[in-house]
Order: sequence, then structure tokens, then C-alpha cells
Amino acid sequence: MATISELAREHTELTKEQTTHLANLVSEWGMLADLCFADLLLYVPVTGDSDNWLVVAQVRAATGQTLYISDWVGTMASNGERPLIWEAFHSRSIVEDEIFVEGIDEDCRMMAIPVVFEGEVIAILTREWSRRTGRQPGELERTYLEMFDRFADMIIHGTFPFAGRVADSSVAPRVGDGAIVLDENARVRYASPNATSALHRVGISANAVGQTLAELGVVDSSVRQAFERFQPVVEEFEQTADVTLLARCIPIVDEIDNAPLVTGAVMLLRDVSELRRRDRMILSKDATIREIHHRVKNNLQTISALLRLQGRRLESAEAKAAVAESVRRIRTIALVHETLSREPGDDVAFIEIVRPLLRLVEESLQSPDRPMRFKVVGDGGRLPATVVTPLSVVLTELLQNAVDHGFPESEGGGNVVVFLEIMESELRIEVIDDGRGIPDGFNLADQTGLGLSIVRTLVTTELAGSIVMRPATAKELKDVELTPRAGNTGTVISLRVPLNEE
Ligand SMILES: Nc1ncnc2c1ncn2[C@@H]1O[C@H](COP(=O)(O)OP(=O)(O)OP(=O)(O)O)[C@@H](O)[C@H]1O
Ligand SMILES: [Mg+2]
Repeated sequence: MATISELAREHTELTKEQTTHLANLVSEWGMLADLCFADLLLYVPVTGDSDNWLVVAQVRAATGQTLYISDWVGTMASNGERPLIWEAFHSRSIVEDEIFVEGIDEDCRMMAIPVVFEGEVIAILTREWSRRTGRQPGELERTYLEMFDRFADMIIHGTFPFAGRVADSSVAPRVGDGAIVLDENARVRYASPNATSALHRVGISANAVGQTLAELGVVDSSVRQAFERFQPVVEEFEQTADVTLLARCIPIVDEIDNAPLVTGAVMLLRDVSELRRRDRMILSKDATIREIHHRVKNNLQTISALLRLQGRRLESAEAKAAVAESVRRIRTIALVHETLSREPGDDVAFIEIVRPLLRLVEESLQSPDRPMRFKVVGDGGRLPATVVTPLSVVLTELLQNAVDHGFPESEGGGNVVVFLEIMESELRIEVIDDGRGIPDGFNLADQTGLGLSIVRTLVTTELAGSIVMRPATAKELKDVELTPRAGNTGTVISLRVPLNEE
């Protein structure tokens, strides 16, 4: 659906500031619709046609029945509506009359309110309703309608919507959550049944009418600030140990002798205790998960330390190497848990794992006669723990292989680059070395070594991805700034892992 600014740009001569004023009005008008129990529509004059009006926004009341099932945004005012809108626009006053609405054979009424910005009428806000579906008038209805009229008056005087940033309306309380109407001295004139119930929950059962919120024992700083600043104020407060209230106080501002004066206010009140309790629970759940990752890491570190001790007592070089490799694999997994234990959620920036992993491999595989340089290029984005753990194990094996097989001990060291990229919900990892290359006739499927078996199982089975192992091309080496020494061809192991975004 087109936004107000798109529609305004395309069909009207409204300036950017005027459009912003209308957008501010629309972000606040849920309250107005609720106060008048009716649908509200916003009409703007169309370029080059003095009596053609485009609907740029529409809202329904949460307190009453809607007149229109369809959405009128983007359509023009009907013949029956035009005269009223025209009259309101040119007389700068509120006009109300019956209108004929196609498809609805009952008395429909429209109230047209000129929207003024910097002294100029820029749009018409209409309230459209049917008498038949109207509510039984009681005190609530009378009070709300009276408040609606006060806000309508502010719209004509250009003082509603308020200038400046509008508070996030998605969490703001609505009229149906509970409304308290205050007079010019900030005394309660009326409290809706839901507001009364909210007050009851915090132990205030006295009749609120005639008293200030402070006298009632309700935190009233939002009211004080709204009266002082001539602006709506949102405030959340813990009224009691168990009850958290979210309040929004909207002042009614009149111009008296050219000076603004607050002559009343509407305070919307919502009990957000349950919401906040859930927030706190989620927070503590996060902390628990982090703590578990931390403990898993500690346990893995203990295991790897024990294995290392055991390895030292071994005589056979082969056994020593096998244990050392196991230690490295366990430390890799420990590292993932350590990183996860510092993250608030269950996903982590992959690069935060890859960098320390390279350091780990560097530390353990480095030797003076085989100096190795490791580098990461690119970024792997944020990945869930379920992907990160197997990938880290895979990466360790590939790095180990690059060192072991690319650069035989006697021939000196070289470079290994890990290249990361996310493309079309697929993670691409390339491990490129400038070593001597894979043996002739090498076939990945035939490999029975533990390293590549682990890689194959994790990538194809656990991650549903694919592996290709091949000699590096000259371009690939150049792209990551590698120049193999004479005789070396270099190897690329290329992994593709699909990422299923929820
Ligand atoms: N980067 C590489 N450059 C050259 N050859 C490689 C490379 N990576 C793997 N290979 C080849 O693949 C073979 C199998 O590797 P794999 O990791 O499965 O076993 P391994 O390293 O020999 O033993 P393990 O990892 O179980 O200790 C290696 O022997 C080697 O020939
Ligand atoms: Mg290996």
C-alpha cells in the first residue's frame, strides 16, 4: 500500500513539511478515532483540480463499529462527499452533514475538519459514521466525544498533531486500555471503566473524580511534564511492586491571548505488568543459556587439558600426534562455546569465531622451520550456534590439512587464506593455500583419513552443504594476494552451506 508521502508526492502539491504534519497526524489519530467511535479519513486536494480529493489515509476505531469494510486509501472522494469537503476547506470551519455512501443504505454522516499547518488549510480530516450503528450515549460516550471536539479544535488551529518526534505508537496505550480525562487543573474529570480497574489493581478504590493523580497516589510526572511542555509525554512506572503502568498524557492546548495554555488532558493508561514480567523472564533465560555455554566451555577445557597431559606420557610419535589432534578439535568446540557465552542470543557473528580459531591453529601448528601466515577475507554474517559449531570443527580440519599436506616440514612455510561470503542465503567458505597442491588423481570421495571424513560428514550430512577440493586457479590466488613459490600450485577447498532464514 502506498504511504502518505508517496501519495502526496505523486498527486498533490503538498510540501515536505506539510506532508510530515499529515504523517504526524496519522500516527496519532488512532486515539481520535477511538474518542469519536468512528472511521477517520484524510483527504488532500489533488494537483490541477480544484474539487478533487484523494484519500491518503484511513483508520477505524477500536471502540466502535466501522462504516467501511473496504480500504479507501488511494481513491477519490465521491460526488456526495465533495461538497462537504470543499466547504470545510474553503470556510476553514468544521462542517457536518448527511452523505450518501454507495452500497450502504442507511443514514451516513460526515464531519469534515480542516487540517491547518502554518496558517494554511492543507487537508481535510473526516469522521464518517452511521447513526444506526452508533453507541448508546452514556457518560463515556459524551466525554469522549467532547474530547474529540477539543482535539478537532486543535487541528483547526494547527496545534494538533504536536510538532516534533511522535512517540512509538505500537506500544503506546490506546483509549480502550483505559482513559482518564483531566481538567485544566489536572484534576480527574472522568475515568473510563478500564482506567478505574487499573487503579483498583494498584489499590486505589476511591472515587477519582475531582482529585489530582498525586492526591490519589498515582505517579503523575507524565501529567506534570505534559502540562509544562505543551507536549504529549509517555512514561512507564512501577506503581506497585507487581504492577507496571504505561501512561501517555496528551495535553489539550488552547491559544489564549496568543499564548498557549493547557486546558485539560487525556491520559491513556495501560497495565503492562504481564509484558514486563515476560521481558524479565526472557532476559533471565538468555542469561541461563549463556551460563550453560560457559560451563560447557569449562568442561571441554578440562577434557583437553587432561588429554594433553596424557599425550605427554605417550612414547609413540603417531599416538602423540593423534592425541594432539584430538586436543585441537576439542579446543575448537570450546572456543565456540566461549564465544556463545558472551552473546545475548543464540547466534553469533561467524568472524568472531574464525579469528580466534585462526589464532588457535597458528599457535599450535607454528614451527620455526615452517612459518605459516593465516588470514581471513570477507565476512560470514551472523550464524546460529547449530551451524557455527560444526563449521568450526570443519575449518580446523581444513586448516590443519593445509599446513600438514600443503607445506611438508622440510620445504618451509606458506600462507593460508580463509575467504567468507554470504550470497543468496548461502554461506561460501573457501580455504585457499599456496602449498604444493593436491596429489595427482586425488578424489575426495575416496579419502579415508579421519580429517576429511569429519569434514564430509559434517558438511554434507549435518549442514546439507557441498565440498569441492581442487587446485587453485591463478586468478583465485591473485584475488587473495597469494604468490606460490616455484613448483607449488596451491589448493582450494570450497564449501557451500545453505542458510535457512526463519
Ligand atoms: N590443503 C591440502 N593440500 C594438499 N593435499 C591435501 C590438502 N588437504 C588434504 N589433502 C590430501 O587429502 C588427504 C586426506 O586428508 P585427511 O585430513 O582426510 O587425512 P590426514 O590429514 O592425512 O589425516 P588426519 O586428518 O586424519 O590426521 C591428505 O593425505 C592429503 O593428501
Ligand atoms: Mg587431516
